[in-house]
Amino acid sequence: MVKWSTSIFLSLLFLCAVSITAKSIETPRDQREITEENSQNRVVSYEKTTISNRVDPPQPPTSSDPINYTQPDEGAHYVCNEKSAPGRENIYCKGKLLEAVMAKSLYSDSKTFVDRPIKQNKTGPSVYTDFLARFPEDIHEIDPIQLRTFVDENFDKEGQELNECFLDDWSPEPQGLIGIADTTLRKFAFELNKIWKELCRVVDEKVKDEPERYSLLYVPNRFIAPGGRFREFYYWDAYWIIRGLLASNMYETSKAMILNFKHIVDEIGFVPNGGRVYYLQRSQPPLFAAMVYEHYAATLDLALVKEVLPSIEKELAFWKNNRSAEVNIEGKSYDMLQYRTPSNVPRPESFREDVAIASQFHELSRKRQFWQDIASAAESGWDFSSRWFADSQNLSSIETTNIIPVDLNAFYCYNLNILGYLHGELGNITSELHWMQEYIEFRDKFRRVFYVPGSKGWYDYNLRTREHNLHFYPSMAVPLFTGCYDRLATRDANQLYDQMSDMGAFNFVGGIPTSLERTSNQQWDFPNGWSPLNHMVIEGLRKSGNPRMQRKAFDLAEKWVLSNYRVFVADRAMWEKYNVASGAPRGGGGGEYEVQAGFGWTNGVILDLLSTYGDRMHFDELLFNNPRSKDKSPTTFTVFSDDAYTSSKPSYQFLLSILSLICYKLF
Ligand SMILES: *[C@@H]1O[C@H](CO)[C@@H](O)[C@H](O)[C@H]1NC(C)=O
Ligand SMILES: *[C@@H]1O[C@H](CO)[C@@H](O)[C@H](O)[C@H]1NC(C)=O
Ligand SMILES: *[C@@H]1O[C@H](CO)[C@@H](O)[C@H](O)[C@H]1NC(C)=O
Ligand SMILES: *[C@@H]1O[C@H](CO)[C@@H](O)[C@H](O)[C@H]1NC(C)=O
Ligand SMILES: *[C@@H]1O[C@H](CO)[C@@H](O)[C@H](O)[C@H]1NC(C)=O
Repeated sequence: MVKWSTSIFLSLLFLCAVSITAKSIETPRDQREITEENSQNRVVSYEKTTISNRVDPPQPPTSSDPINYTQPDEGAHYVCNEKSAPGRENIYCKGKLLEAVMAKSLYSDSKTFVDRPIKQNKTGPSVYTDFLARFPEDIHEIDPIQLRTFVDENFDKEGQELNECFLDDWSPEPQGLIGIADTTLRKFAFELNKIWKELCRVVDEKVKDEPERYSLLYVPNRFIAPGGRFREFYYWDAYWIIRGLLASNMYETSKAMILNFKHIVDEIGFVPNGGRVYYLQRSQPPLFAAMVYEHYAATLDLALVKEVLPSIEKELAFWKNNRSAEVNIEGKSYDMLQYRTPSNVPRPESFREDVAIASQFHELSRKRQFWQDIASAAESGWDFSSRWFADSQNLSSIETTNIIPVDLNAFYCYNLNILGYLHGELGNITSELHWMQEYIEFRDKFRRVFYVPGSKGWYDYNLRTREHNLHFYPSMAVPLFTGCYDRLATRDANQLYDQMSDMGAFNFVGGIPTSLERTSNQQWDFPNGWSPLNHMVIEGLRKSGNPRMQRKAFDLAEKWVLSNYRVFVADRAMWEKYNVASGAPRGGGGGEYEVQAGFGWTNGVILDLLSTYGDRMHFDELLFNNPRSKDKSPTTFTVFSDDAYTSSKPSYQFLLSILSLICYKLF
């Protein structure tokens, strides 16, 4: 009897001890898991981050940096100069101040310094002269604390020249999204629709009045920024942002962004990578015409088309005149396009990284070539990827300027077609015929240069090796997206699909990866999936006219929506890129900066896909069709509560609470 009660007592004591221990570690453990994610991915909800005006805390200065940050002038082609950025070229694009700030690692992100405006009543030249007078010593002898003081005395915080703005065409439940049949997906779309308000930016008028104090380029209208460190407008991002805005019926905002690009092209002759003076020597994939086309398709606004057509033609002339390269194949010569900026210096926004990697090269000419190839890869939007590497592994083997890329030429092809079409819509038959002829001629050249019959697809061509790069990259599907093949050549399109399938492009749980190259550790490689690339593959297959490929387009759209959704539930954020091969839903990694939240093109793509497929996509089917999610209890997906993290184990928690209560009463 005594024995029996003792054992019950001991068992109870044991259970209580276990339950109390479990309870006490439980909450912290959940939080720790999230914090671990935090340290990797800077996981914070979009409400909290968006575009912050915060200044990075100063990094502990590294006193004995072995890298020489002093840059020689010889043979340099800078990213801006006294003509393109008068008064500030020695602040934001070159010079000892920039070199010193980078050498002393004042900020964890190189971009922070070059985004800081010069203080009121100061000018670039006066700040620079002051700096030289106060720090005549060699850069490595400069005291980082004094340098930090100097910078704070002369510069405002980054981001303050961009204001948040009001979207008068925004509504909580836009017509285009109300039609989404599935309740959960419709709610998801409304949540994403809300993020537009967080990402709206307008350039402060003081930038227009005193441009010389800012690295920011003035544009007259509001725009949607990508998010995170990307505070200003970006070129190719805007295409997918506009697709999303159109899905949200925000035609005024979409028009405002198009008119910003017109303004920029009229001012400087092309669209730079982004809205800063340090982007003035490089562009990004040319999708301005495609934005206008999509806007026109949604609104039939012919007046806008008429207004911007000359600027589209002007931008195209830039690509043709400044980015063409001769390709000789089988005894014939073709003028094609390539990503090739003339700048051959460290990119100011990634200065430290660029100097550090180039320090392995001893000859200045080799460094110059490296920096040109790095900046040219940035122009491609794919910064960086094994696609540009001679050895497909190491950034130091980058050779972007030896490569004739499929996607750029397919975009150019699209531009010609769109120009012909839009002129036709305006009733200008002469111009329509002119551009249509250009389009057909270019399409023909395109096939001759890129199509490899034995490998059933279009592939990048390398001028050095005189060979095609036969590895998988989603860029191989861009001709389907832009229609850069004869509609009668259905065989080309069908075979490309088979080829991508054989290569394993469709085998990943979260979507289509950027490559199958696993060892480069670059952000435009495996295992990252990017919205624009997934979207172009989906749209390319959807436009194919082949039911089998259209079915695949739908499957891929489901996959992409579901993986974005799962990460949104887990992180309360939309990311710029995703890990498509990971079991746990998560944002992407790799590359030279942390994964960024926001995120303009990610939201745009999901909204576009939901508006395209909203009548037939069902959340239950998504879960069912997705093998990875079968084992997850559906309650995990009951979102839009504030407690998405902890809701998954309710019964276990309940049991623990009861036990703890009993123990508390007993002892
Ligand atoms: C750093 O490089 C510059 C320019 O090439 C050169 O003038 C300077 O002597 C170098 N400094 C050191 C410490 O090596
Ligand atoms: C700039 O100069 C004007 C006129 O001299 C003065 O009113 C203003 O306070 C100054 N601003 C700053 C930030 O020093
Ligand atoms: C394009 O090239 C021409 C001639 O080389 C040059 O004068 C012009 O500045 C370049 N345009 C841009 C926008 O870089
Ligand atoms: C990449 O660079 C590293 C270090 O420079 C070198 O050890 C490695 O062999 C290179 N990889 C390839 C594939 O060339
Ligand atoms: C057609 O477009 C071209 C080029 O934009 C222009 O020069 C021409 O005047 C236009 N013709 C008509 C009839 O509008």
